Amino acid sequence: MRAIAMMNNKGGVGKTVTAINLADILVRSCKSRVVLVDCDGQCNLTSFYAPALDTDAVPTLAEVLTGNSEPLWSDNLSPVCPGLDLLPGSPDLYELDLHSVIDGSGDRYGARLRDFVGCAREDGDTDYMIFDCAPGFTCASVAALMAADDVVIPVNPDGFSFRGLASMARQLQGLRRAGVGIHIAGALLTQWRSSEVVLQGEDLLRSSGIPVFRQVIRRTEKVPESTFEQQPVTQYSPNSAASVDYRRWVREYLGGEICGL
Ligand SMILES: Nc1ncnc2c1ncn2[C@@H]1O[C@H](COP(=O)(O)OP(=O)(O)OP(=O)(O)O)[C@@H](O)[C@H]1O
Ligand SMILES: [Mg+2]
Repeated sequence: MRAIAMMNNKGGVGKTVTAINLADILVRSCKSRVVLVDCDGQCNLTSFYAPALDTDAVPTLAEVLTGNSEPLWSDNLSPVCPGLDLLPGSPDLYELDLHSVIDGSGDRYGARLRDFVGCAREDGDTDYMIFDCAPGFTCASVAALMAADDVVIPVNPDGFSFRGLASMARQLQGLRRAGVGIHIAGALLTQWRSSEVVLQGEDLLRSSGIPVFRQVIRRTEKVPESTFEQQPVTQYSPNSAASVDYRRWVREYLGGEICGL
């Protein structure tokens, strides 16, 4: 099993859209078994897949982090469709951030999430676990970074985003020095379009020393439309530019280990 964190300190760069479409391609085209983990108190991923879910009535990531989850790791999951399960997020994740500052209660979160990933790995029934992180180093995002094998960093082609990426790469290095075994799989350019400023920015990014995926994800209105329809764009509009790009990107990133693309 490979555990992948979608992370960027910057908001609105495509972390959730990338997590959703990566999961969809892996499940439908590659017949992989995927668990998505919503690490964001905004709960965009959870409301996308399960808008009616009562997060007070089912286990969520907050219970896993605080050690109040069901003993069997898989009993904490909410099924989405064959091959895809969700560990929901909840606004309780914001409470955990507050309390970790007030009383230092967050020191075990990383270890607990690592244990959760370890149980999934041992079980052998899951091929990919994908963490959709919140913008910023929240408790849940840091725990996801500690539990993940790879970090994918979606990034928008604009100056704020690129400058933020450089500082985040430094912060990830800091975590690595603190003993967190982070592997940056690469930055993924989302909302790409062919304009002078974007192409210049892309050149700058590719010469920055941070690994960047060759494949970019083009901007298309089909993506926001797909979020209204609550479908991955790869299902909502399979031939749209973003869908084609996401499939090519998955092949570039995981091509060696998966079939069907
Ligand atoms: N390829 C694309 N083309 C057009 N719009 C896109 C594309 N990718 C993402 N978007 C849009 O960008 C916005 C942000 O995407 P998303 O919610 O995935 O970002 P995020 O990084 O998860 O945000 P947050 O940090 O708030 O969690 C959404 O409105 C989404 O529809
Ligand atoms: Mg998001």
